[in-house]
Amino acid sequence: MWEVRWDSACELPVADPQRVALMMNLGAVIEYLAVAASAHGLDVQFVPPEFKGTQPNLGFVAGKLLFVPREGAPSPLLPYLPLRQTSRKPYRNAPLPAGVLDELQAAAASAGCWLFHTTDRGAIASIAAEAGRGMLAQFSEPERYAEFHRWLRPSASAEGLDIPAMDLAGPMGGFWKRMLPPARMMRNQLAQRALAAQQKSLVQSAPAVCMLATNSREWKGWIQAGRALSRVWLHAARHGLVTHPVPSALHTSTGRQLANDRLGVEGDLQVTCLFRLGESVPAPRSGRLDASSLRV
Ligand SMILES: Cc1cc2nc3c(=O)[nH]c(=O)nc-3n(C[C@H](O)[C@H](O)[C@H](O)COP(=O)(O)O)c2cc1C
Repeated sequence: MWEVRWDSACELPVADPQRVALMMNLGAVIEYLAVAASAHGLDVQFVPPEFKGTQPNLGFVAGKLLFVPREGAPSPLLPYLPLRQTSRKPYRNAPLPAGVLDELQAAAASAGCWLFHTTDRGAIASIAAEAGRGMLAQFSEPERYAEFHRWLRPSASAEGLDIPAMDLAGPMGGFWKRMLPPARMMRNQLAQRALAAQQKSLVQSAPAVCMLATNSREWKGWIQAGRALSRVWLHAARHGLVTHPVPSALHTSTGRQLANDRLGVEGDLQVTCLFRLGESVPAPRSGRLDASSLRV
């Protein structure tokens, strides 16, 4: 049995005050672990702690993982664990392989979530414009940028946002190499606009934009949404596709409404992750933790 905890120093009080992304990231770890454990004849069961109410004092313990004997073959997603990656490059604007979006939807449903998507160029263009506007707003907020800046790392790193994997090429590359400090970024509207324009054109290049949604409004549901998201991303990797979350498109209520409308998200569902999907030229890989560094 393992206990699932997180390091409170890794929280993002400005960007993620409700800890939605944090819980989703824990879910992602659990899902990848479950797929990896299947190679050793094990299934992983997540057992959340018991409490009353919806906002527990979790004390940085999100639950327990039980490893139980698995019947049958390892997970068919196992080969794609090392292949799956985020790519922040422009994507090839070519139709996706037939049936892939249905497969991704089924993968989300198998984890109790919903996946909505659009391949309509007009819908993608309007979501891209929102992503640009949201990015501009985010990069002009001093506290948000300061928090983001604290996590930037100049080279491949197993924690934080390593600048090579962010792949901010072109004229903006130089800014990031110097990790434009908060005071300078706030004065530099040119940099803010360039980043916003880059985000917009990245989304515009994608053949599909997807949104994962859940009917849950509490932390256990967000952990489950993280599991669903990772499962969807592994299925994408199976088809040679990459993904890139674009939360800036959901930064304002107008952006959220527009995305829900263009993607056909049903009223009561809570959106958890908007991402672009496609085929990318080879992109820098994140510096991942080696399995031997897991603290057990
Ligand atoms: C819940 C969640 C939220 C994420 N949000 C963002 C994001 O806002 N912007 C971004 O560029 N990447 C985002 N990512 C992607 C991670 O930054 C990416 O997974 C990380 O760089 C590791 O790279 P890899 O996916 O290639 O292993 C998110 C990933 C998860 C699981």
